[in-house]
Amino acid sequence: MRGLVNRCFGEQLLALESFLWAVRGEALIVRPGVQPTVKTTSNHFEVFKMKRILITGGAGFIGSHLTDELLAQGYQIRILDSLSEQVHGPKQQRPEYLDSDVELVVGDVRDRDAVRRSLKGVDAVYHFAAMVGVGQSMYEVAKYTSVNNEGTAVLLEALIEKPVERLVVASSMSLYGEGLYRTPIGDFVPGHERTLEELKARDWELHDAEGGVLTPVPTPENKSPALASIYALSKYDQERMCLIIGRAYQIPTVALRFFNVYGTRQALSNPYTGVMAIFASRLLNNNPPMIFEDGLQKRDFVSVHDVARGCRLALETPAAAGQVFNIGSGQHYTISDLAQRISSVMGKEHIEAEITGKYRIGDVRHCFADISHARSVIGYEPQVSLDNGLNELVTWLEGQVAEDRVAQASAELSARGLTV
Ligand SMILES: NC(=O)c1ccc[n+]([C@@H]2O[C@H](COP(=O)([O-])OP(=O)(O)OC[C@H]3O[C@@H](n4cnc5c(N)ncnc54)[C@H](O)[C@@H]3O)[C@@H](O)[C@H]2O)c1
Repeated sequence: MRGLVNRCFGEQLLALESFLWAVRGEALIVRPGVQPTVKTTSNHFEVFKMKRILITGGAGFIGSHLTDELLAQGYQIRILDSLSEQVHGPKQQRPEYLDSDVELVVGDVRDRDAVRRSLKGVDAVYHFAAMVGVGQSMYEVAKYTSVNNEGTAVLLEALIEKPVERLVVASSMSLYGEGLYRTPIGDFVPGHERTLEELKARDWELHDAEGGVLTPVPTPENKSPALASIYALSKYDQERMCLIIGRAYQIPTVALRFFNVYGTRQALSNPYTGVMAIFASRLLNNNPPMIFEDGLQKRDFVSVHDVARGCRLALETPAAAGQVFNIGSGQHYTISDLAQRISSVMGKEHIEAEITGKYRIGDVRHCFADISHARSVIGYEPQVSLDNGLNELVTWLEGQVAEDRVAQASAELSARGLTV
């Protein structure tokens, strides 16, 4: 009888404790749009909220903005980053923009011990660590494959040992190759690679079999990949590896295909990354932006703030698991238009862009995002217009020094026959 009373009392206490735990947990951590996962353990409910997050490559451009987005929502952030020289400069120091609340583990994503250490006590992982650059990947093949593919493999093996509640991997628009097009009679077709003859003849647009010009349209996630660079191949591998292991080991995984991301903190002296940072760096040094082809290529430029929000939604939306989403602005501009806008916001209209009329191996003619899937499943809605984003970028640029290594990088590509 006494045992029964004790057991009943014990169960009531347990229930009360669980209730208080839950209430406490809710009061502390629930925010708009955040859905705590309720897990049943042996005999009581546990309210679980993903709150300790690891971001590999989080000291970089997108990762650091995501860090700010998540910190503002009350998450705790740990970053594993090698502070690579190409991105962080020769001193390879902790970037000043990283909030002091961030725990930074300086280490390589290919180092098993560093990865295991970084995963301790972590509820969810963003995998951003990567070598980032289409042109450079076409000659630093071993390095790109090692960091991007092997790095992902090492992380996934560690996650098999210690699964997390969510894995979000940074994928890329580059895996589409050419975007989706419409033929003159209205059929939708995936863009094809242009022939060397066409490129040498400076015949830039894509044609159908009858010679009609194809019109680019927004590219949805179900457009089949057309991998035109080692970088694109490695991003596709990263995405697939994460989704395959996530499915096999019940780690809810989301792949986000970022389009052309721009904003503050992008490495200005890295001539291999974003076109916006490259143009800005040229103009800061009073050099003209260098434009490949005829400058009429269309791209989707998305503010890093929108990307950071998209990343958070991918973490917090249960229905996102197992899926792939385009993260772009849903708008498109030509490269020439972009160059002209940047120089005008920087007050450097007198510096006219240089249209090189050259083709860079691995480049595509047009690709911009159809973001309807992200809109409907994770509630993603871009909020920063190109004009507002550019104004913010230029204000930040005023305090920056950028070493212009673009000419050197172009010479590197041309010496290797990677420009036509
Ligand atoms: N910027 C874009 O427009 C864009 C577009 C599509 C996809 N992406 C993807 O988004 C992610 C973040 O890109 P970003 O623009 O912030 O690049 P970034 O170069 O600014 O950041 C990458 C970070 O990874 C770190 N890193 C590199 N090698 C590492 C290694 N071996 N171990 C640990 N850390 C390492 C770097 O030090 C850097 O801090 C990447 O995976 C990139 O492929 C970016």
